[in-house]
Amino acid sequence: MSVAVKTICCIGAGYVGGPTMAVIADKCRDLKVIVVDLNKEKIDSWNNEDLSKLPIYEPGLKELIKRCRGKNLFFSTKVKQSIAQSDMVFISVNTPTKQSGLGAGEASDLKYIESSARSIAEYAIGHTIVVEKSTIPVKTAEVIKTILISSQNDLKKKSSKSFSVLSNPEFLAEGTAIDDLINPSRVLIGGESTSSINALVNIYKNWVDEEKIIKTNIWSSELSKLTANAFLAQRVSSINSISALCEKTGADISEVAKAVGMDYRIGKNFLKSGPGFGGSCFKKDILNLVYICKLYGLNEVANYWNEVLEINHWQQNRLTNIILKKLFNTATNKKIGILGFSFKANTNDTRESPAINICTNLLIDGANLSIYDPKVKFQEIYNNLKDFKNSEDISFNYEDRICMASSYEELANGADAILILTEWNEFKKIQWSKISKLMRKPSWIFDCRDIIDLNDFVESDLNIWKLGFGSNVDNLK
Ligand code: UDX
Ligand code: ADP
Repeated sequence: MSVAVKTICCIGAGYVGGPTMAVIADKCRDLKVIVVDLNKEKIDSWNNEDLSKLPIYEPGLKELIKRCRGKNLFFSTKVKQSIAQSDMVFISVNTPTKQSGLGAGEASDLKYIESSARSIAEYAIGHTIVVEKSTIPVKTAEVIKTILISSQNDLKKKSSKSFSVLSNPEFLAEGTAIDDLINPSRVLIGGESTSSINALVNIYKNWVDEEKIIKTNIWSSELSKLTANAFLAQRVSSINSISALCEKTGADISEVAKAVGMDYRIGKNFLKSGPGFGGSCFKKDILNLVYICKLYGLNEVANYWNEVLEINHWQQNRLTNIILKKLFNTATNKKIGILGFSFKANTNDTRESPAINICTNLLIDGANLSIYDPKVKFQEIYNNLKDFKNSEDISFNYEDRICMASSYEELANGADAILILTEWNEFKKIQWSKISKLMRKPSWIFDCRDIIDLNDFVESDLNIWKLGFGSNVDNLK
């Protein structure tokens, strides 16, 4: 048996809510899908006629919005009305790491989840299936349930509301979100009520093979999401730790990763070394795992996962130190070009981007930064560096030492070094011979994303340093 679902609402129009609901609307034309957010500016951007002004950049998203918006997909700030008319409500709000109080620095702040649950409790009518989609710590469903049940009790006499809570974690990766949503490796649904689970299964069944839909209890579902992200992050930290050893021993990380990854038991994905993982999930999810392990007295497990984060931070600082060493131990008054600021290619998201820490380190050492990213706006870069500076209690001002370059030539002009931090495809087409003429000598290119083919530089007067490439003579200089 399953509950008939005609209208769904998603609270939170961000990187998860927006693309997920766009795909559901496209695949289920009989459903009415409303995405709500308290942020009016964001909703206005989702409703903008000019599709290049959508609040997030994600390949394939514009096309979906064009097909569905105004037909069965709506973006609105009307939280109350939208919840009231929905049979199923997804919670897709942000869950940042707590900055103060109990669990500060580790536990997720559930204030947005809590306020969403309170809104649902207040405005829902009849039976409502509540689906947690946000990345959340284990046991969040319990918080949601408690809030919903207490409202049921409160209002028992006045109206007949009832709720069931499901966990349906999102496994999409930014940059490939639409593809991941259309062809998921699996869909995980945790819950107790069979009819509610089936209602959600019926939605996914419109385009996902039923074999790929896993039904579990709610806690397994929540913990699976944290564990999957922790495992992926662990692979990145593992290969990054080996990148340092490659540089010392003359091995090349791309060759090592290929040889290791061809073992079918290991697999080739997530073995690309780089400046460290970023994004809104990996760090937060591991911190949640560490927090919950400590809570249950599993200190060894907590320490084990914490090391994955330590290596990530160490990799970013290690890179800064290498750059400074090549620049005669100081960046003061030197111009450094930064190619890429988003945490990975094909997204405008900068949350936890390694660029934030690396750029701050260089600014602390006195560098002037000229930054270029195809999709990230200057204000976003500026705010990120400012917030990071404030959170780390760095006292001096460096706002006038950051600027946005509008072309590769502008970025390179007079620069002592160029640092590639994001693997944007367009960086592969840069004509380095042109760039070389514009830079101050000696000039350095630091390739942290394996973008550059060293064969193109045999005759070049640029010094190239490639992360994890011990065979490159410049790495050993
Ligand atoms: C991740 C999970 O992949 C996704 O399933 C979950 O829903 C959300 O968190 P996301 O953070 O969007 O997705 O991107 P992902 O592709 O996982 O990359 C995370 C970080 O790891 C990026 O900074 C990326 O550059 C880095 N990375 C990834 C590497 O450095 N090397 C790799 O081989 C893979
Ligand atoms: P994610 O990557 O998890 O999607 P985002 O920060 O991109 O996170 O998006 C989360 C969205 O949720 C934000 O746009 C925020 O304004 C919205 N939000 C947070 N709390 C509420 C709430 N109580 N009601 C409606 N929207 C909310």
